[in-house]
Amino acid sequence: MSTSRLDELRRRHASAEAGGGAERTARQHAEGKLSARERIHLLLDEGTFEEMDKLVRHRCRDFGMQDQVIDGDGFVTGYGYIHGRLVYVFAQDFTVFGGSLSESNAQKICKIMDLAMQNGAPVIGLNDSGGARIQEGVVSLGGYADIFLRNTLASGVIPQISAILGPCAGGAVYSPAITDFIFMVQNTSYMFVTGPDVIRTVTHEEVTKEQLGGAQTHNDTSGVAHFLAADDADCLRRIRRLMTYIPQNNLDDPPRRETSDPAGREDASLDTVVPEQPNQPYNIKDIITRVVDDGEFFEVHEHYARNIVTGFAHLGGTSAGIVANQPAHLAGCLDINSSVKGARFVRFCDAFNIPIITFEDVPGFLPGTDQEFGGIIRHGAKLLYAYAEATVAKITVITRKAYGGAYCVMGSKHIRTDVNFAYPTAEIAVMGADGAVNIIYRRELAAASDPDAARKEKIEEFRERFASPFIAAERGYIDDVIEPRETRARLIGALRMLANKVASNPRKKHGNIPL
Ligand code: HXC
Repeated sequence: MSTSRLDELRRRHASAEAGGGAERTARQHAEGKLSARERIHLLLDEGTFEEMDKLVRHRCRDFGMQDQVIDGDGFVTGYGYIHGRLVYVFAQDFTVFGGSLSESNAQKICKIMDLAMQNGAPVIGLNDSGGARIQEGVVSLGGYADIFLRNTLASGVIPQISAILGPCAGGAVYSPAITDFIFMVQNTSYMFVTGPDVIRTVTHEEVTKEQLGGAQTHNDTSGVAHFLAADDADCLRRIRRLMTYIPQNNLDDPPRRETSDPAGREDASLDTVVPEQPNQPYNIKDIITRVVDDGEFFEVHEHYARNIVTGFAHLGGTSAGIVANQPAHLAGCLDINSSVKGARFVRFCDAFNIPIITFEDVPGFLPGTDQEFGGIIRHGAKLLYAYAEATVAKITVITRKAYGGAYCVMGSKHIRTDVNFAYPTAEIAVMGADGAVNIIYRRELAAASDPDAARKEKIEEFRERFASPFIAAERGYIDDVIEPRETRARLIGALRMLANKVASNPRKKHGNIPL
């Protein structure tokens, strides 16, 4: 082989590795951001990255671009391993034309996405980009659309994970939006369709980039992002952790994680977590963390719609998705945001064969004109639809309230939940005792000599008779009333029993979830 060819190869590799050069890389570091290659290095198992298309160049000949050619064209793409499992990855290098998307690097992304689909492995995108490469015009826009199509076709087939590690603006936000999970980094990442300048012109609103589309905003206000990381390294660590719960594709089982935490471990403190008083709040996560393997709960959408808790854990080594009403926030009521949050999570688990465990303590849907005008009927129906269509193993534990429509929605027996447990503190009824008594005894109470005393008596009577788990258990809607201390053992037992569950829905092109 001629040394000149080898030299040429090495020179091109060096050009790709240098990206936009030392100065721009230093600026990236000064902003608290890592380079594309440093990110990939932290994301993947040591030494496993195999780069593809390192020698690709852009084909733009306008605006002097013919004189500015960098091998790889600013996107680093390829494959590697996380915990020994194959993943495909792309990382936008902000030091090369602001990480902007050219025709060439759109093709690089499409190439690894096609390989990921054919080989059944997740795609992880590390986004840090000024959007469509302005010099390339419609060719770049077409590149985005090619990616959107692949994101859509891959949805529900392979997990798709997006990390936003810098700007992500304009239509570029829609690729991450179609993926399953979005991670954002505090202070360095932002997403918006139209930026502060356009907003100022059109609506005369003054808003900063951070307020409009920063990591905090999308984690706690819009719900666009699922995870909030402190910095790049923290973000990449969290993605690696997420991978311990999710399978390679929709035909694969989620990974098992062996544990020394005994399956039969009882926890007497669980007997007192749920307060005697029905209106007293408690933190549902105190139950979750006591029940799951090693107390490890990986929360999804932690900062958004906190009246419902969603996340992953292992039980007896089996990965499970956990959905739980949160009595410590809005009394655990279901509202628009929590319904949508819960529905999306349930659908992810169902698409990827992850059993769903529901902890239920819900006084109903949140009343109010805000909710009704906002379409709680449509949005609440999403959660109902998601639970009803899910064919994975489903287990529900009613810890306290299961009132009204929310009883039906939150993994009830009637919508194909396999195993339904209730604590002795469970109250399963059409509504709370106070409301029920006011309605069914209205006339009787109005005529009573001491209406307050009569109301109290009726409430007690109602609670005793109807607000318990026993009527539902007598009918088999609840499979067993369990002691809280034995929750872990009973859940693991049910998961084992359901490990080979096969269930399906009628054949159809697709359903029509009320979007
Ligand atoms: C080409 C770009 C670019 C772009 C940035 N650069 N964005 N080159 N196309 N879209 C280049 C800059 O010229 C600069 O080059 C380098 O990247 C860094 O940019 P700076 O502006 O110096 O960085 P910073 O101050 O950090 O600002 C980053 C930024 C800003 C906020 C992202 O660059 C910006 O607003 N860019 C344009 C964003 C945008 O409007 N994109 C189109 C969105 S619409 P040098 O050589 O000086 O280092 C879209 C449509 C998608 O994306 C459609 C899908 C349907």
